[in-house]
Amino acid sequence: MSVNKEVKKITTHTIQKMKSNGEKISMLTAYDFSFAKIFDNAGIDIILVGDSASNVMAGHETTLPITLDQMIYHAQSVVRGIERCLVVVDLPFGSYQGNSKEALNSAIRIMKETGGHSVKMEGGEEVVESIKRIISTGIPVMGHLGLTPQSIYKFGTYTVRAREEEEALKLKKDALLLQEAGCFAIVLEKIPATLAKEVTESLQIPTIGIGAGCDCDGQVLVMHDMLGINTEFKPRFLRQYMNLNDSITSSVKQYISDIKSKDFPNQNEQY
Ligand code: KIV
Repeated sequence: MSVNKEVKKITTHTIQKMKSNGEKISMLTAYDFSFAKIFDNAGIDIILVGDSASNVMAGHETTLPITLDQMIYHAQSVVRGIERCLVVVDLPFGSYQGNSKEALNSAIRIMKETGGHSVKMEGGEEVVESIKRIISTGIPVMGHLGLTPQSIYKFGTYTVRAREEEEALKLKKDALLLQEAGCFAIVLEKIPATLAKEVTESLQIPTIGIGAGCDCDGQVLVMHDMLGINTEFKPRFLRQYMNLNDSITSSVKQYISDIKSKDFPNQNEQY
């Protein structure tokens, strides 16, 4: 039987056990109560309250504008919807880069005010002191390397990262630093599959890939992309499981038409 099916509540220990047993880890973003409830009931291992909320919920071009208060609102809604999965909450841009005290205060607010189970932070060596300080207070941290969208203005593009040797070497070093610092898992975003495989094999802690190939210990997608709510975003790594945009559009069109034609509401739909 899989580790996933044995447990009532997924913890960071379950996630570690899944890596040891070779069981792949499933992670999906969610930002509200209703979708979190559906994903949890479906058996997802981890819900990430991603700062991608800035894009898909608030309509910003980047993840930079979302605030800590807004992340807390989304995380509170998600936590009310779940019973079993592990909830990871992104620390948003500007809430942890200043210094380790600021980072700790932000992480503590997330834990106290949302009931989430852990936080995620982007970066390697640059944020390792903050990660250590947060973990020392008992808050689990998930790392995030490769394409780190909070640094988009430094990268200048959303293209694949660490294709060149220098960046690949730094990423491998950072992954080991994050493991030594005590991170319970690391997201690897948009890096060559061969590099992700090498990093995954070099670590005791699990890697969760997005656009990082099949050898990561788990996979994550943004819910709006995998359910086909977004229509414009179609990177190679994305597998779209539904076309919810089309389904919603035709349902709303039907609803409008039923109202206009006086078909809705009918005799049975009134008091
Ligand atoms: O914010 C987010 O959705 C993320 C995933 C892309 C990993 O960080």
